[in-house]
Amino acid sequence: MRSCKNLDWPLMRNNIGKTDVDAVINFLRGDLPILTQSTQVEEFEREWSAWLGVRHSVFVNSGSSANLLTMCALRESAGLGEVIVPPLTWVSDIAAVLQCGFKPVFVDINPRTLGMDTAEVLERITGQTKAVFLTHILGYNGLDQVLLDELQKRKIPLIEDVCESYGATFHGQKLGTFGMISNFSFYYAHHMSTVEGGMISTDSSDLYHVLRMFRSHGMVRESKSEGVRQAYENRYPDLNPEFIFAFPAYNMRSTEINAVIGRSQLKRLDANNKIRTENLQLFLRNLDPHKYRTDFETEGSCNYAFTLVLKQPDTRLCQNVMSALREHGVEFRRGSSGGGNQLRQPYLRKLLGETEFTKYPVVDHVHFYGFYIGNYPDLEREKIQDLCSILNQLKGDTSHYD
Ligand SMILES: Cc1ncc(COP(=O)(O)O)c(C=O)c1O
Repeated sequence: MRSCKNLDWPLMRNNIGKTDVDAVINFLRGDLPILTQSTQVEEFEREWSAWLGVRHSVFVNSGSSANLLTMCALRESAGLGEVIVPPLTWVSDIAAVLQCGFKPVFVDINPRTLGMDTAEVLERITGQTKAVFLTHILGYNGLDQVLLDELQKRKIPLIEDVCESYGATFHGQKLGTFGMISNFSFYYAHHMSTVEGGMISTDSSDLYHVLRMFRSHGMVRESKSEGVRQAYENRYPDLNPEFIFAFPAYNMRSTEINAVIGRSQLKRLDANNKIRTENLQLFLRNLDPHKYRTDFETEGSCNYAFTLVLKQPDTRLCQNVMSALREHGVEFRRGSSGGGNQLRQPYLRKLLGETEFTKYPVVDHVHFYGFYIGNYPDLEREKIQDLCSILNQLKGDTSHYD
């Protein structure tokens, strides 16, 4: 092993580059541009839809806003009921379900994809199920054909949270194109960044119009459908057509500056993702499979983070991993995506009680023995190999490995 006291390895590096900053400067030097949502946002939405392969996209000010507006649109289209969600996800996925008045129904995860276990999802579907709201965790595809076929057969909408996984594919098709709606985040530590930002994508024109209205105060004039606008104007002749508010909604618009950065970033997303995928493969290839999980389903994956999950509930190895990462300057997050088992969080304990989390043992293992580590395009390959050697040499509780 090379000497590598400090690997100087943050969760993310250089995600907003000089070309992005130059794009903003050039834009600002233009002819006194409008900076609130306007043509740059529309162009970014159009380019994103083309990149993803969907008909419509709505740019919002965060991935969490995308989650919330998606649940608002689901409530409009399907009414209230149950939404199946994973316990390993970001807080805003569950918060959006609760805030919109749905009942979250949890299922445990598949240890090889970190997404929901398909058999359990199918078991938890009832006559009240309004959607399966799946999260593709840290670049791994969470879909399989059984799930897609069954949901189609039972007419249950699929909603994909792709905030951590854009660019990843299932059977060669991009994640985010399988569901009725899909959500993306452009937070700094993700595959690309607009500083803050998120996108909602869909092939449904009806949902697109509703989502646009929800993004801007519920205003009917935000709908792109002449038919929708006309129907409201005819029904409410006492209202100024400029100010008809269809829903009690939000202002979740972003700005032109964020869209300029997004358009600049999108140009290099595919090239960056290719490097990230090679990095992950190198990391998993070099890890000791007796100590760490290396059997993730990587086909089509596209990860902005390395998943480090201990094979056994080995407290000694876990402590040694954390000490070694700190000692070598490697930033990490314990619990993996969103801090681990959401059911252990105070907001869900208050709602579901103090023991509910014990019913989800697979996610609980990740909660205590899972980590993620940054994976960015200019991460040096030698550092990946060095880190694997450090991790492989760490001592655990030998009783686990006899
Ligand atoms: C799976 C998932 N969904 C939603 C979000 C929320 O995105 P944002 O931070 O842009 O609000 C995140 C954020 O990290 C996430 O990981």
